[in-house]
Amino acid sequence: MSSIPTLEDLEARLGDLNGKRILVRTDFNVPLDDGTITDDFRIRAALPTIKWLTDRGAIVVTASHLGRPKGEPNPKYSMAPVRERLAELAPGVELLENLRFDPGETANDPAFVATLVEGIDGYVNDAFGASHRAHASIVGPPQFVPSAMGRLLQKEVDVLLGLRNKPRRPFVAVLGGAKISDKLGVVEALLDLVDSLVIGGAMCFTFFAAQGLPIGDSLFEPDMVDTCKRLLDEARAKGKVIYLPDDITGVDAAGNFATFGNQLNAGSKGFDIGPGSAAAFTDVIMDARMVFWNGPMGMFEDDRFAAGTRTVAQAMADTKAFTVVGGGDSAAALAQFKLDDEVDHVSTGGGASLELLENGDLPGLRALRASQS
Ligand code: 3PG
Ligand code: MG
Repeated sequence: MSSIPTLEDLEARLGDLNGKRILVRTDFNVPLDDGTITDDFRIRAALPTIKWLTDRGAIVVTASHLGRPKGEPNPKYSMAPVRERLAELAPGVELLENLRFDPGETANDPAFVATLVEGIDGYVNDAFGASHRAHASIVGPPQFVPSAMGRLLQKEVDVLLGLRNKPRRPFVAVLGGAKISDKLGVVEALLDLVDSLVIGGAMCFTFFAAQGLPIGDSLFEPDMVDTCKRLLDEARAKGKVIYLPDDITGVDAAGNFATFGNQLNAGSKGFDIGPGSAAAFTDVIMDARMVFWNGPMGMFEDDRFAAGTRTVAQAMADTKAFTVVGGGDSAAALAQFKLDDEVDHVSTGGGASLELLENGDLPGLRALRASQS
C-alpha cells in the first residue's frame, strides 16, 4: 500500500504546515450511555495524527459521524460529549457537528463535499472504522485537496493486510456474533486465507441447523441454512477445519440456566458456547501462530453468558501467536475483561476490518490512492 500518501507526503506537498487548515476525518463513533462516553478508545486512537499535525502548527479541524441519525440534526447524536473529551485530550482542536446530520454525507453528495473542503488546505483520513463507507467525508475530499492517510489508518492497514499477505501458520480466525449473513463474504474469503475457522456466537446455530442438529428456540437465520451447508462443504473441499461448539449454555424451557450438548431440545435457548467448547477453542488459539478474532462467543453483556467470550479473550491474551481483534463487540469485550493491552492489535473498525480482510482494499483507501499527491 505504499501508493497511499502518508503525512510526510502531505507535508512535502503542502510545504510548511504552520497555519494550514487540515480537515481530519476521524471515527469518533463512540459508545454513549445517556450522553456519557463509555469508551474513548476511538478518540485516543486519533491522537498521534492530531499531535503530528498540531506539532507542525497546522490548524486541525476534525469531523466524524456519531450513530446513525437520519440526515437531519438530532440532539441524541450531538457531538457535544465527544467535543468535551477531545478538548481534554487535544486542546484547541476543532470538531465539526455530526456529519450524518446532513443527508449529503451518506449520499456522497458533491455539494456536501464542497462545503467540507471549503477553506481547507489539506485532508487526512484517520477514520479507519468508517473507511468501508463510500460517504462524502471519506471519498470526497481527496478529489479536491492534497490528501493523506493518518497514523491510525496506516497502522490498521499494515496490520490487517499483513494477515492477508504474510500469514504465519497455523492462521486461525475466530468468528462470533449473531448473524452469519453479516459475515458471509468474509467467511468465504477467510476459507482461502486461514488454516482453520472457529465459530461461536448465535451464528453457530445456523451451522447446527445446516447439520440437522436440533437448536430449540435459539436464534438462527433460516434463509442462511443452505449457505452454511455450502460453507461446510467448501471448507472440507479446501482441507480447512471449521470448529463449531459441541456444548452450549443457555436457558431451558422453564427459563433456568442450563448446559447442553450440541443438540437443544424444544423450548430451550442457547446464549453462549459451553465450557468444553471454550476449552477446545482455547487449544486451537494456543497452537496458532496468528489469530484474528471478530465477534463475541455469546451474550457477554449478561454475566451468566460471558464465560465463553471471556475464555476466548483470555486465550487471545495468553497465546504466543500474533493476535488481532476486529473492532466493535469483541473489542468492547476485551476492554470489559481488561485484556485489551494483552493482544497485539485491537482494531478500531468492526465492519471495516472485515471488509479489508475480505477485499484487500476499502473505498477510503482507493480514494486516497487516486488523490493527486
Ligand atoms: C462503526 O462503528 O462501525 C463505524 O463507525 C461505522 O459506522 P456505521 O456502521 O454506522 O457506518
Ligand atoms: Mg458498524
